Amino acid sequence: MKIKQAEYIASFPNVASCPQDSKPEFAFIGRSNVGKSSLINMLTNKKGLAKVSVTPGKTQMLNFFEINNSWVLVDLPGYGYAKTSKATKATFSKMIKTYLTERSNLFLAFVLIDIRHSLQKIDEQFIGWCGQNGVPICMVFTKSDKLGKNQITQNIHTINNALLETWNELPPQFITSSETNAGKEEILGYINQIIESSTVLKT
Ligand code: GTP
Ligand code: MG
Repeated sequence: MKIKQAEYIASFPNVASCPQDSKPEFAFIGRSNVGKSSLINMLTNKKGLAKVSVTPGKTQMLNFFEINNSWVLVDLPGYGYAKTSKATKATFSKMIKTYLTERSNLFLAFVLIDIRHSLQKIDEQFIGWCGQNGVPICMVFTKSDKLGKNQITQNIHTINNALLETWNELPPQFITSSETNAGKEEILGYINQIIESSTVLKT
């Protein structure tokens, strides 16, 4: 899929205030600092589209972007940032979970995992929660430029083994880097495929 248009729409503090929209929506989620905003900029070829920060916890709203006038990308707040208060964490958690379960035009959530680390408890819990609540996900390993090929294979193997202790099946997975553009065509192709198959189903 070629990105011809990518535009920031607005940010919303909760699901109730989100615009009524029937366009297919794809959400990006993961721990704070995992590289959500960087990935969005990489996918859309627009460096400043989503705000990238060295300070974790920068994204605190549901940030909507319209792509090719046909689908919507949503940058969600990072979960599990240690330095925010318990109350803030609970607010974000509720906001994210309500969005994921109640947004009817949400097609898929991309769960981002930093490829350098083993599966963190909070990621495992979040993926488990998506499974239990019927939220369709796929996994995106970020920052692959920081590791060698063998280490990437090994880390993914370890992460998947941990998931397979609880789950029979693994969601689709992508290996990405916002530095090298790795995974870009694969993710955009996957989104395109999902949108096209939904259009076929509707007609
Ligand atoms: P919050 O919005 O705070 O939750 O963070 P985020 O998940 O949106 O992460 P963001 O894109 O702001 O990136 C966090 C840091 O990681 C920044 O310093 C980025 O430059 C860096 N980063 C993100 N993606 C990559 C990547 O693919 N490779 C490398 N080397 N660094 C990356
Ligand atoms: Mg962000």
